[in-house]
Amino acid sequence: MRFIGCKTLLLDKIKEVIDENAPEAKTLCDIFSGTSVVSRYFKQWYEITSNDILFFSYVLQRATVENDALPSFSNLIPLGITDPVQYFNEMDISAMETLENEKRFFQNTYAPKGGRMYVNDENALRIDYARNTVEDWYQSNLIDDDEYYYLIACIVEGIPFVSNISGTYGAFHKEWERRSFKKFELFKLEVFTNGKENRCFNEDGVELLKRISGDVLYIDPPYNGRQYLPNYHVLETAAKYDYPKVRGVTAQRPYENNKSDFCLKSKVVEAFSNLIKNAKYEHIILSYSTDGLMSVADIESIMKKHGIEDTFRIYEIPYRRYKSRTQEKKDELKELLIYVRKTKN
Ligand SMILES: C[S@@+](CC[C@H](N)C(=O)[O-])C[C@H]1O[C@@H](n2cnc3c(N)ncnc32)[C@H](O)[C@@H]1O
Repeated sequence: MRFIGCKTLLLDKIKEVIDENAPEAKTLCDIFSGTSVVSRYFKQWYEITSNDILFFSYVLQRATVENDALPSFSNLIPLGITDPVQYFNEMDISAMETLENEKRFFQNTYAPKGGRMYVNDENALRIDYARNTVEDWYQSNLIDDDEYYYLIACIVEGIPFVSNISGTYGAFHKEWERRSFKKFELFKLEVFTNGKENRCFNEDGVELLKRISGDVLYIDPPYNGRQYLPNYHVLETAAKYDYPKVRGVTAQRPYENNKSDFCLKSKVVEAFSNLIKNAKYEHIILSYSTDGLMSVADIESIMKKHGIEDTFRIYEIPYRRYKSRTQEKKDELKELLIYVRKTKN
């Protein structure tokens, strides 16, 4: 999934830093998990704990990290459904027209019928139909928690493929882009089995770290002032399907209670300091940017204060994302992996 700060391209670098500094580690916590690609990748080797304040991120984690195998959906078999992803994807749109109007939140909010162009009317109905059906199955105990989160994750993961946006849901295009004409399909997520007690959370990482402990803590906070929820509100609503009171042309859901201190210049240093202080992990690895709200000097002093000073190390990775900027600017910006070994609490 396209997501601001997604670390798909950095996985091998993160692994190198962990292998160099923590070869004996058995557990890894991905405290700002986002798309969950980091957790999914490291699940091959570690028992994973993952977390994010976004609910749709939690759903993606819960489906592929805490779930340790593809769910069986055995209670759907008597209904003639062996593969619910295929069931929705092969269903004719005319069969979905039976869905009552008041249950069509996507169509009535994000599609032309609701005066907006995030997705077309037909795809909106496909999303509404699948999401309502999954909710009904769950309420009638036809699917359990593992199956429920798996199917919602497949719905969420499928939406960006047909969204009429340029990267985020801060706004939609005024003309239909090619992508919006494709048929919406649930995206069949793979689930890797590692046989371990992987756990997922949906809370403020600073608070969660007071209660959990382990070997490696990977921290990938927001770098700048762009809050995540307003940029991904459509996916959050697909995951929650809570009929929020949306506002304005872009149909933002309320997010006052969901602002991250890591996006606020006035609060980020204190939040980061508390996070490192709370962490009961032996090895800490931070992803950050030389372009970020916190200065490298701030980061260094906080990590050295709460960690073992002479283990502090900065690994610089040339920025690959600012492709349109000048070469000069590219050279100035660096993506950083910063390591410190923490004194055991
Ligand atoms: C840079 S992104 C993480 C990207 C992720 N590593 C990936 O590869 O997809 C930062 C994430 O931090 C989350 N976040 C921000 N503040 C948080 C907080 N206080 N506690 C937990 N998660 C938070 C955001 O919702 C966002 O998903």
